[in-house]
Amino acid sequence: MTDRYVVVGNPVAHSKSPEIHAAFARQTGQDIDYGKLLAPLDGFRSTISAFRATGGQGANVTLPFKLEAYELADVASARASDARAANFLRFDEGRIRADNTDGVGLTRDIEHNLGFPLAGKRVLLLGAGGAAQGVIMPLLEHAPRELTIANRTAQKAARLAEFMRGKPAAGPGKLRGVGYRELAGRQFDLVINATSASLHGELPPLPEGIFANGSLAYDMVYAKTRTAFLEFAAAHGAKTADGLGMLVEQAAESFLLWRGVRPQTAPVIAQLRCS
Ligand code: ATR
Repeated sequence: MTDRYVVVGNPVAHSKSPEIHAAFARQTGQDIDYGKLLAPLDGFRSTISAFRATGGQGANVTLPFKLEAYELADVASARASDARAANFLRFDEGRIRADNTDGVGLTRDIEHNLGFPLAGKRVLLLGAGGAAQGVIMPLLEHAPRELTIANRTAQKAARLAEFMRGKPAAGPGKLRGVGYRELAGRQFDLVINATSASLHGELPPLPEGIFANGSLAYDMVYAKTRTAFLEFAAAHGAKTADGLGMLVEQAAESFLLWRGVRPQTAPVIAQLRCS
């Protein structure tokens, strides 16, 4: 019987995950069926239960259910616990296992696909919501010189940095949480936008000189047209990248966890760029 997987979200109609996993399955000769499942905002658990009851093997989870997915799991990986959120579920001998592949998706895209090593870099992460939280530990594991979290509500960034400082990869003095005003006069090699500003056509209030020579601006949002953040970055001399590579890389990591085979991502990224 064909193994069945879904991406669960609300909304979910726009999701590219079925196309990505279908491409991985063709490429690796795996027999899987991967669909979309819309869960009511108050019905994530019942949607997952119903899918399991019909023999579903696993799910990717997207907004706004990543926290609920983590809470639902019987067993969570360290990556999911660090993020306090899960985008990956596997239904295993009556238990639900959770993981978080977003962070590794981001770091693989930055290091392997974009050829930008994180070690020794000054990294600025914009935002202190769920999207930011999911990538802090994976970024720190790649040994940047520093990681500064900036948020409109400065207190949230400070609290998040404080929570993460308890983890071994954080290292002394590497991680801080600030408001945008404290960025004046600072420069960074990598600026990652993990805010939801791009979804509303808005630009986080960045100071002019924030991009160091040769810096990379990365928007975790993927959109057909360049986001306001990437427009600003390009106008200030930074290289730019959107979140398409991260999307495909987090899917590849999920595919590996479910199927035991790592698919090639480059052809799938190229296919989606053209579609
Ligand atoms: P997610 O789980 O996707 O991260 P979230 O928890 O709602 O979503 O967080 C959204 C993030 O984007 C927050 O860090 C938010 O800043 P505040 O905490 O100050 O609200 C940030 N954000 C949203 N719109 C923004 C904008 N126009 N400029 C700067 N930051 C913005």
